Amino acid sequence: MDKKILDKKFVTYINEAKITEAVFRIASSINAEYQDKMPLFIAILNGSFIFAADLYKQINIPSQINFVKLSSYSGTQSSGSVTTSIGLDVAINARDIIIIEDIVDTGKTLSTFIAELKKEEPSSIRICALLHKQEATTHPIPIDYLGFTIPDLFVVGYGLDYNGFGRNLKDIHQLKES
Ligand code: IMP
Repeated sequence: MDKKILDKKFVTYINEAKITEAVFRIASSINAEYQDKMPLFIAILNGSFIFAADLYKQINIPSQINFVKLSSYSGTQSSGSVTTSIGLDVAINARDIIIIEDIVDTGKTLSTFIAELKKEEPSSIRICALLHKQEATTHPIPIDYLGFTIPDLFVVGYGLDYNGFGRNLKDIHQLKES
């Protein structure tokens, strides 16, 4: 279905059922692979808040979750510079970390964040992302758990925003070019 958000039109791209399937698939891999590891999930705000909540509800092994706020986006373009405004309030040294990200675009946000995390010497770091714009990635990072690879087109919904709007859409919508 078409949606107008501010000045732009969007069309449904990945529906709620497909998203739920991907969330279940990722959660069951993590549940199997992290049985005795007590992983620490780190969800990157704001965009991943819905994905992180849905995923974490399907995690059935002992684990913790924490949140950081990073940002490199303004409007529909990555600004290139990453800022952290909410830090972690838990020690990550010797922990098995799973980063939860809504979308990997250039990869700059995550690669900067991972470099910061590594200074604290966690045991391991794995990445879980709902979406990957592979063609747009200039800072390649291994994505261990991935929902969907998508083309280099702006998307909103399921936590992702256009200038702060559209996060509440249940389906992921793609920008309609004019
Ligand atoms: P990167 O540093 O270029 O990989 O940007 C990643 C961040 O940019 C994500 O966490 C999102 O918050 C935001 N982002 C990237 N692509 C989109 C998009 O298509 N829609 C909404 N936000 C996006």
